[in-house]
Amino acid sequence: MQVVKTVDELKNAMFRIRPTGKTVGLVPTMGALHEGHLSLIKRARKENQITVCSIFVNPTQFNNQDDLAKYPRTLDDDLKLIEPYVDFAFAPTPEDVYKVPATEHYDFGTLERVMEGPMRPGHFNGVAIIVKRLFDWVQPDRAYFGEKDFQQIAIIKDLVRQYKLPITIVPCPIVREDSGLALSSRNKRLSEDERKRAANIYKILKASTQLETTKVADIQKFVADEIAHNPGFKLEYYEIVDGETLQILSDLNDSDSVVGCITVYVGEVRLIDNIRYK
Ligand code: PAJ
Repeated sequence: MQVVKTVDELKNAMFRIRPTGKTVGLVPTMGALHEGHLSLIKRARKENQITVCSIFVNPTQFNNQDDLAKYPRTLDDDLKLIEPYVDFAFAPTPEDVYKVPATEHYDFGTLERVMEGPMRPGHFNGVAIIVKRLFDWVQPDRAYFGEKDFQQIAIIKDLVRQYKLPITIVPCPIVREDSGLALSSRNKRLSEDERKRAANIYKILKASTQLETTKVADIQKFVADEIAHNPGFKLEYYEIVDGETLQILSDLNDSDSVVGCITVYVGEVRLIDNIRYK
């Protein structure tokens, strides 16, 4: 594994790889890596001859400065973890990435008008800025994203479509603890007790797929009531959406691809998760 610290070094490294015709898989991350990230990296390694992993806490996608400041940074551990699987680890500074100022404006239409869009203004523009820059620098054949961030995948697929990029987006399943809690860098900020109880989120989502009703309002009420039974939990939203267009559904029968997306505060920590109905 070669650790690449600057954009110029990355571009040079890729410039040397390209004439070899080797396939390149890219895994963008913000570090504090866990088995969820590693599942993407292992998949990229299996499907490509060269694997690139970026580790960069991207300031332009944080609409909350406190969240940015508190984001865990564990570069040395991250590099040790990925060393066996990765050819290039790209770990730049914000100054270098944003030497060219972040003036890009992306438009994802209705995809960004639901769920995380209104809750985190500017978030997806910031994600698109860094991901598009990474795509331009690396020019991968495939890029790997986790279904944990379900809306992010829809946005990135749209980015690729809008710019006609020759990149295959590979969605990867959510990796969970045995308890059912989706792995997340943010879990580190939960107390031991909160972390145990945070497993209830997935239990509630699973139970909601077993209800007799197909009415979304009934399912939402079930989820909201169950979440409310947990002290210290605060539901931000539970939306059931079309898995491709992210349009909000009112009945499970209204689409062939249906996903429920939840955001819950457990104490101070904002957790997201999702589950497929079909
Ligand atoms: P980050 O939160 O570090 O996540 C990097 C990738 O790992 C994302 O595609 C995310 O969906 C995936 N991931 C995280 N937890 C996972 C889990 N439990 N199971 C499966 N995949 C999981 O998402 C970002 O960073 C940033 O927005 C980024 C795309 C890197 C742009 O800055």
